[in-house]
Amino acid sequence: MSQFTSGFWDFYIAAISLVSIIACGIFLKAQNVRGTNEADTSGHTWDEDLTEYNNPLPRWWAWLFYVTILFALGYLALFPGLGSYAGMLGWTSLNQLEAENQAANARFGPLYEKFAAQDVTVVAKNPEALAIGQKLFLNNCAQCHASDGGGSRGFPSLTDRDWLWGGTPEAIKASITEGRTGVMPPMGAAVGGDEGVKDVAHFVLSLSGRTHDTLRTFRGKAAFQQACIACHGADGKGNQQLGAPDLTDGVWLHGSSEAAIIEQIQKGRSSQMPAHKEILSPAKIHLLTAYVHSLSRGGAPPGK
Ligand code: HEC
Ligand code: HEC
Repeated sequence: MSQFTSGFWDFYIAAISLVSIIACGIFLKAQNVRGTNEADTSGHTWDEDLTEYNNPLPRWWAWLFYVTILFALGYLALFPGLGSYAGMLGWTSLNQLEAENQAANARFGPLYEKFAAQDVTVVAKNPEALAIGQKLFLNNCAQCHASDGGGSRGFPSLTDRDWLWGGTPEAIKASITEGRTGVMPPMGAAVGGDEGVKDVAHFVLSLSGRTHDTLRTFRGKAAFQQACIACHGADGKGNQQLGAPDLTDGVWLHGSSEAAIIEQIQKGRSSQMPAHKEILSPAKIHLLTAYVHSLSRGGAPPGK
C-alpha cells in the first residue's frame, strides 16, 4: 500500500527504478562492442612495452550482468516494488505474517489447548509448558518486567512473593488479561505541605526498619493514620484490591530513598500494566500465568 498522499511520488520512484535498470543495460551493451582492430589499446604502457588492450568485458561476465537485469525486471513484475503497483503474486508482508501465524497455530494450537485445560499450578511444573511460557514472556513482557521477570524501577518484579495485586493464579491471570492501573493521588496538601510530607516520609521509612528521625516519625504517624490508611492499611501492609503496595517489606517499586518517597507522596503516581486480552489468546495467557506463577515460587526459568 502506498504511504504517500500524492500519486506523483509513486510514479517518480517507479520511473527512477526502471530508468536506472534500463540505463545499466544500455551502458553494458555500449561497453561490449567488440573492436575489429586487434591493436586497439587504451594508450597505457608500463615497463616500456607492456600495453593495455581495450578489449570488451569477458562474455560470461557480461551475461551474468544481463541475467541480473532480467532478474530485477522479473522481481519488479512479481513483487511490489514499483510505486503502488502490487505485483503479480499479490504478496504483502501482512499476508506473509498471517500465513506464518496460521502455520504456527496449526503446529502449537493443540499443545496450547492441552495446557489450557490443565490447572495453572500443574502447568507451572511442566518444563515444556514453562519453555513456551518463557518465549511468550520474552516477546511480550520482558520490555517492561526484564527478561528474567526481575522488573526495574516502576515495573514490579514478578520473581518475589511481594504482590501489588495478588499472587494467586486468578489474580495473576486477571493482571495480564485486564491490565492494572495503580493510582495514588498527590497527597502533599492532605498531610500539611512540605514539612508534613517529610514527617510522613520518615514514618514510612520507619515501617521497614530504615533510619528515620524519631520526632518526624511521631508526627508523621498521625498524618499517616488520617491520609494513607484508606489505601495502605492501618499497619501499612497495603491493599491488593487497590494495588497499594506493602510499605513494610523493604521492597520498593519507585525507589527507597527519602527523596523518592517524598516525591511519591507529593506528586502521587499512576502506573499502568496494559491489558493483554486483545493481544494474546486465552490459552497463551494461561501459559504466561503459569510461567509467572513459577517465577515467584523459586522455579528458575528453564535454561538457567
Ligand atoms: C508497558 C509495560 C508493561 C508490559 C508490556 C507488561 N507489564 Fe506487567 N506491569 C506493568 C506495570 C507498570 C505494572 C504495575 C502496575 C501497578 O503499579 O499497579 C505491572 C504489573 C504486572 C503484574 C502484577 C504484579 C503484582 O505485583 O501484582 C503482573 C502479574 C504482570 N504485570 C505480568 C505481566 C505479563 C505476564 C506481561 C506480558 C504478557 C506484562 N506484565 C507486560 C507494566 C507492563
Ligand atoms: C487512593 C489510594 C492511596 C492513598 C490515599 C495513598 N496511597 Fe500511596 N500508593 C497507592 C498506590 C496504588 C501506590 C502504587 C502506585 C503505583 O502502582 O505506581 C502507592 C504507592 C506508594 C508509595 C511507593 C511505594 C513503593 O514501593 O515505591 C509510597 C511511599 C506511598 N504510596 C506512600 C503513601 C503515603 C505516605 C500516603 C499518605 C500520605 C499514601 N501513600 C496515600 C495508593 C494510595
